[in-house]
Amino acid sequence: MSNNFKQTVFSGVQPTGNLHLGNYLGAIKNFVELQKKMKCIYCVVDLHAITVFQDSKELKKNMLETTATFIACGLDFKKSIIFNQSSVSEHSELAWIFNCISRIGWMNRMTQFKEKAGKNKENASVGLYVYPNLMAADILLYKATHVPVGDDQKQHLELVRDIAQKFNNDYKSDNFFPIPEPLIQKKLSRVMSLRDGKNKMSKSDESEYSRINLQDTEDEIYKKIKKAKTDSEPIPSRIEDLKNRPEALNLINIYSFITNKTLENTLDSMAGKDFSKLKKELSDALVATICPIGKKIKELKKDEKYLIDILKKGSNKAKEIAKININKVKDIVGFISH
Ligand code: TYM
Repeated sequence: MSNNFKQTVFSGVQPTGNLHLGNYLGAIKNFVELQKKMKCIYCVVDLHAITVFQDSKELKKNMLETTATFIACGLDFKKSIIFNQSSVSEHSELAWIFNCISRIGWMNRMTQFKEKAGKNKENASVGLYVYPNLMAADILLYKATHVPVGDDQKQHLELVRDIAQKFNNDYKSDNFFPIPEPLIQKKLSRVMSLRDGKNKMSKSDESEYSRINLQDTEDEIYKKIKKAKTDSEPIPSRIEDLKNRPEALNLINIYSFITNKTLENTLDSMAGKDFSKLKKELSDALVATICPIGKKIKELKKDEKYLIDILKKGSNKAKEIAKININKVKDIVGFISH
């Protein structure tokens, strides 16, 4: 169905401070590749961030830091639209319409809400509950056909597809919204915590040792990888033998991905060796990849005006598309627009 639409990429990142290796390898690296071949729209999603309380000064700081991270990782604001979500009010308007399309049963299936709300569900914000409907609005407002994300967003993307389909069916406006395709890296869809290979690397993990932040220094990277959990077995020669060794698999996966090797190649060269060898090579590769990005982020952060200007220009471009599409949606729904 998406074939009838102009190929458009949309993705978003929450401004919740200090982005990490999982955000980079699972999503942002792919954003950079995609901007070489498609029209891309990348959004710093502040409306999503406030589904959990944010200190207003911190939020502003994190908005600029996330924008700096986009640029430092290689996004080009002349090629791609880079903007902040709250400055294009059509996101909220479409989200409301989707609140009325989406079903409570669908929301109740969302595992990320259950994880984030934890035991005290009654006390979670309503915004956190309907968060995936806003995500649908982000994507469909631009009629995006492709959405690069990490594996943890897969369920949300399935919901976005259901919302698009239901809107098209309910309003008998076949093909109005595309059914967007998730683009999930095959080789490394989920970077896991360095302390527990069964959990994803995450900003909200209490332990700093669980993740590599993009602004970590060389020393911090070496220390964190040195301390990363492994097991007492040597590196195996077959992929099957990594099945019940999540921490080992994670380090080997990260190493293979950033050095552009297949898992088989890595195992061929490392089989029988101790993890200290892999950790040394992994740290070197991480320092070479991450430290230049971190330095650039720190440099860019000093120039707030420059970053705000990028967001402003991007928001204006985003608004042009958003306005046209929201007016069409209002017309389909039966609203009278002035
Ligand atoms: P967020 O801000 O949590 O994460 C940003 C991107 O990073 C990916 N990611 C990971 N990938 C691999 N391994 C990990 N450990 C890891 N941690 C994070 C996420 O999958 C994501 O792609 N709901 C979204 C933001 C959003 C959005 C959208 C995304 C809002 N609207 C529309 C796509 C389209 C989120 O919270 O991502």
